[in-house]
Amino acid sequence: MMLKRWLGSVLLLLLGIFANALGAFVGINIGTDVSNLPSEIDIVAILKAHQITHVRLYDANARLLKALSNSRIEVMVGVTNEEVLGIGESPSAAAAWINKNVAAYMPSTNITAVAVGSEVLTTIPHAASVLVSAMNNLHKALVATNLNFQVKVSTPQSMDIIPRPFPPSTSTFNSSWNSTIYQLLQFLKNTNSSYMLNAYPYYGYTKGDGIFPIDYALFHPLPSVKQIVDPNTLFHYNSMFDAMVDANYYSIDAFGFSGIPIVVTETGWPWFGGSNEPDASIENAKSFNNNLIRRVLNASGPPSKPTFPINTYIYELFNEDKRPGPVSEKNWGVLFTNGSAVYPLSLGNSSQITGNTSAVFCVAKADADSDKLQDGLNWACGQGQANCAAIQQGQPCYLPNNLVSHASYAYNDYYQKMQSVGGTCDFDGTAMTTAADPSHGTCRFAGSSNSSTSELSPRSALTPESPGAWSTSLQVSRLQFVIPATILALMFS
Ligand SMILES: *[C@@H]1O[C@H](CO)[C@@H](O)[C@H](O)[C@H]1NC(C)=O
Ligand SMILES: *[C@@H]1O[C@H](CO)[C@@H](O)[C@H](O)[C@H]1NC(C)=O
Ligand SMILES: *[C@@H]1O[C@H](CO)[C@@H](O)[C@H](O)[C@H]1NC(C)=O
Ligand SMILES: *[C@@H]1O[C@H](CO)[C@@H](O)[C@H](O)[C@H]1NC(C)=O
Ligand SMILES: *[C@@H]1O[C@H](CO)[C@@H](O)[C@H](O)[C@H]1NC(C)=O
Ligand SMILES: *[C@@H]1O[C@H](CO)[C@@H](O)[C@H](O)[C@H]1NC(C)=O
Ligand SMILES: *[C@@H]1O[C@H](CO)[C@@H](O)[C@H](O)[C@H]1NC(C)=O
Ligand SMILES: *[C@@H]1O[C@H](CO)[C@@H](O)[C@H](O)[C@H]1NC(C)=O
Ligand SMILES: *[C@@H]1O[C@H](CO)[C@@H](O)[C@H](O)[C@H]1NC(C)=O
Repeated sequence: MMLKRWLGSVLLLLLGIFANALGAFVGINIGTDVSNLPSEIDIVAILKAHQITHVRLYDANARLLKALSNSRIEVMVGVTNEEVLGIGESPSAAAAWINKNVAAYMPSTNITAVAVGSEVLTTIPHAASVLVSAMNNLHKALVATNLNFQVKVSTPQSMDIIPRPFPPSTSTFNSSWNSTIYQLLQFLKNTNSSYMLNAYPYYGYTKGDGIFPIDYALFHPLPSVKQIVDPNTLFHYNSMFDAMVDANYYSIDAFGFSGIPIVVTETGWPWFGGSNEPDASIENAKSFNNNLIRRVLNASGPPSKPTFPINTYIYELFNEDKRPGPVSEKNWGVLFTNGSAVYPLSLGNSSQITGNTSAVFCVAKADADSDKLQDGLNWACGQGQANCAAIQQGQPCYLPNNLVSHASYAYNDYYQKMQSVGGTCDFDGTAMTTAADPSHGTCRFAGSSNSSTSELSPRSALTPESPGAWSTSLQVSRLQFVIPATILALMFS
C-alpha cells in the first residue's frame, strides 16, 4: 500500500446499493502440499459435508477430477506455471492439455474454468509474452471440442501489478505490462471470461505499515472519523477487499474495457503464524472469512460496480504444511484434514443465493463477543418478543447448538416482525443484515420464501420505542446520520 498517510475525517454515506439478481458464490481453493492429504474420495466427501459448491485446483489432478464427477461441484482447473511456456508456444500442446485434463472428464465433472498459471506477470515475468497466446491456444482447443461455452479461460493476477491501489479511482496497472494487459483484456472481452484476481487484505494490512486499521481489513465497521473514502469519487469503502476489487475495475476501465467481471480466485487469512506474525491468528482468520462470506453472498458489487457480484474462492481448504516460507504460509486452511473446521465457518448453501434483495435477514455476526451475543439472544427472546420456540431442544433450529446460530434465529425473528415499526438489526453491534437465507434443512428463518412464519405480524401491541429502544439507540449513531465529510489530506509516496 503506497498511501503514506491518511489524515481525514469522513462520512457515513449509505450508498443505497442493491444488487441485481445475478447471484453470488463462495468457493474454495484446494492446495495439495499437505503431508497427510485425505484420499480424493474423502476430500469430496468433506466438500459435500460442508456444502461447498465451487472449487479451484492448482493443477488438473486426475484422481481428484474423477472423484469430483457427479458431485455437482463446479471445478476450476489450473495450468501450472511450468506448463505455461509450452502451451503458449504450441497449439498442439494446448489441444493435448485440454483433451487430457478437461474434455476427458466432461460432462460428469463440471469443469467451468481453466486458470492459466498463477500470478504469471509477477512470478514468471519471462512467460508474460506468451501468456495470452497460451490462453488463446487453450480457448481454440475448447472451441474444437465444443466446450468453449461451458469452460472459460482466464489467468489469476496478483494485486502487485497495481503499484498504487489506493485510492481505487486513480489505480492503473504497472505500465510495463501495458501490451500484455491490453491483449489479456481483449481476450477476456472476446470470450466473455472474467478477470481473475488474487486479493489479500492480509498482505495489504501487514505490509501497510499501519496506514490502514485492521478493522478495515477484517470487514469490521469503522468509527465515523476513520471511514475510508476515495477522495475523487467520495465512494465509501467498508472493506479493503472492496477497495482492492475496485482498484482492479478502475485499472481495467483505464484501458477502455468495460463489462469484464472480476472473480476473486484467492483471498483468505492465515490462522497461525510465527512470533513476528501476530496478525495471523484464529480470531482474525475467523472474522475475515466469515465476514467475507457474508459480504460476497450479499451479492452486491464494489462501489464502482454495484451490480457485479464478487464471486470469490477462499484460500484455502487445508493447511499446506509442506509449503516453504514463513509459518503463516502453512496455515491458511479452514478445515483440518479430518474435515472438522479450524474455527466456526459457514460455507453452506452459498449457491442458493439468488440475490433476491427483497428478502433481508438479520443474523448474528460469527465473530461477535459471546457475552454480548448472549445478552442479545436473551433480549430478543424476552423483551424483544421473538418467537424462540424453534431453537429449543428437539425443535428444527436447535442444531447447530451454538450461540451464533441461536442468536441469528432470534435476531431475525425479532427483525422480521419489528422492522416495520422501527426495530433494527444491531443488537449492540453483534448483528448484521444479509440477503443470504440462513434457513437450513427443516429450520426455516422468518422471511424465507418457504417460511411458515414469514407472514406473522407482531403478536402484541407495542409502542414504537419499546422493542427497538435498546437496539435502535445503539444503531442510530452508526447508521442513520450523514456526517459531513472533510478530507484533509492525502499523501502518496
Ligand atoms: C455445471 O455448472 C454450470 C454453471 O453453474 C451449470 O449451468 C450446469 O448445469 C452444471 N452442469 C452440471 C452437469 O451439473
Ligand atoms: C513495474 O514493473 C516493473 C517490472 O516488473 C518494475 O521494475 C517496476 O518497479 C514496477 N513499477 C512500479 C511503480 O511498481
Ligand atoms: C501504458 O498505458 C498508459 C495508459 O494508456 C500510458 O499512459 C503509458 O504511457 C503506457 N506506457 C507504456 C510504457 O507504454
Ligand atoms: C459472448 O456473449 C455474447 C452476448 O451474450 C454472445 O453473443 C457471444 O456469442 C458470446 N461469445 C462467446 C465466445 O461466448
Ligand atoms: C480433527 O483434527 C483436529 C486437529 O488435529 C483436532 O483438534 C480435532 O479434534 C479433530 N476432530 C475430530 C472430530 O476428530
Ligand atoms: C451488501 O454489502 C454492501 C457493501 O458492503 C453494503 O453496502 C450493503 O448494505 C449490503 N447489503 C445488505 C442487504 O446487507
Ligand atoms: C442446502 O441445500 C440443499 C439443496 O438445496 C438442501 O438439501 C440442504 O438441506 C441445504 N442445507 C442447509 C444446511 O441449508
Ligand atoms: C423475491 O422474494 C419475494 C418475497 O419473498 C418474492 O415474492 C419474489 O417472487 C422473489 N423474486 C424472485 C425473482 O425470486
Ligand atoms: C421452497 O418451496 C418450494 C415449493 O414448495 C420448493 O420447490 C423449494 O425447493 C423450496 N426451497 C427451499 C430453499 O426449501
